[in-house]
Amino acid sequence: MKIRNQHYRTIWPDPDKPTTICIIDQRQLPHRFVIERLTTLEEVRTAIKDMHVRGAGLIGATAGYGMYLAAMQASEKDFDREMVQAGVRLCSSRPTARNLSWAVERVLQALRHKQTPGEKRTESFRAATAIADEDAEFCRRLGEHGLKIIQDISRKKQGRPVNILTHCNAGWLAFVDFGSATAPIYAARDAGIPLHVWVDETRPWNQGSRLTAWELQQEEIANTLITDNAGGHLMQKGCVDLVIVGTDRTTCTGDVANKIGTYLKALAARDNNIPFYVALPSSTFDWTMENGSDIPIEERSGEEITCISGPTTDGRIEMVSLAAPGTQAANYSFDVTPARLVTGLITERGIVEARGEAIRRMFPDLYQSLSRP
Ligand code: MRU
Repeated sequence: MKIRNQHYRTIWPDPDKPTTICIIDQRQLPHRFVIERLTTLEEVRTAIKDMHVRGAGLIGATAGYGMYLAAMQASEKDFDREMVQAGVRLCSSRPTARNLSWAVERVLQALRHKQTPGEKRTESFRAATAIADEDAEFCRRLGEHGLKIIQDISRKKQGRPVNILTHCNAGWLAFVDFGSATAPIYAARDAGIPLHVWVDETRPWNQGSRLTAWELQQEEIANTLITDNAGGHLMQKGCVDLVIVGTDRTTCTGDVANKIGTYLKALAARDNNIPFYVALPSSTFDWTMENGSDIPIEERSGEEITCISGPTTDGRIEMVSLAAPGTQAANYSFDVTPARLVTGLITERGIVEARGEAIRRMFPDLYQSLSRP
């Protein structure tokens, strides 16, 4: 990803001190670009819970490095038990993102093949790095596969700009690089296809206005910020050719949990005959879950709805109130779009129908439906 023309990933070990993990503090964007340094399991947990880092893939990669930091600090005597506890602690930080528990399980699994705490520490770093590298590589491949969808639409539009609507931030900031929903957009830009992106602001945390619009600006992709409620109107007016969103957890039958408001976009897209695609690396599939209504939906502080923060004229970030003192607010962070509203899933292995059988055929090695022994 490019920030002021310099290439960054969203997470990396400090090359001079690998027991320090560097992240970009997303709470400060787009007003400030701040690199935060994490050195303990608890700092990693706070970074995930309080959304210094966020987005499916990046939460997974951060959890992977969190397990590595836990391994560096675990005692010789009780190493295995402390690592399991570290995993439980990390998994409790955000409930909806599948990549979180997936990354914790993957590191613990890797450690099982090693004998001594020393070997396990080395292995934890290798596993965390593999998670981060794989996330970037899988997102790059999502781009290659999703490009074909945009190319087809561009051909039909005879080269006029393809208008893509996206919700939340499933961009490079939500992963280690490239992003999921944005990877096909970057691939299409690189292929010379004219594009324009409608960016939902994504209340209440405003991932769209704070992150996606900023990210697309850094990449010089034409984009327009809209209110969350504008998408249906734009679809009726023929201003949207395609919707691409990300997901925090997708069941093995193709039901998709994503940022609150996604379901309404899918309904509007169906009503207007507009393709609605979901882009995800396989790490976001929950192979044990068949029914979207079983996905745990995170509820966050009502303050995210009743207050908003931004820079003052003298550069301080300040929080102001939007609602009367004492207003009760319910902050559901995600919703579930049923598979029947999803045109297709863009994965690192190709585009697959959002249907259990089709998903199983594409991922026979990963699929383990509860209905099977
Ligand atoms: O609460 P967040 O910002 O961590 O929400 C996750 C998301 O970024 C979105 O739901 C996104 O669209 C899918 S994650 C790539």
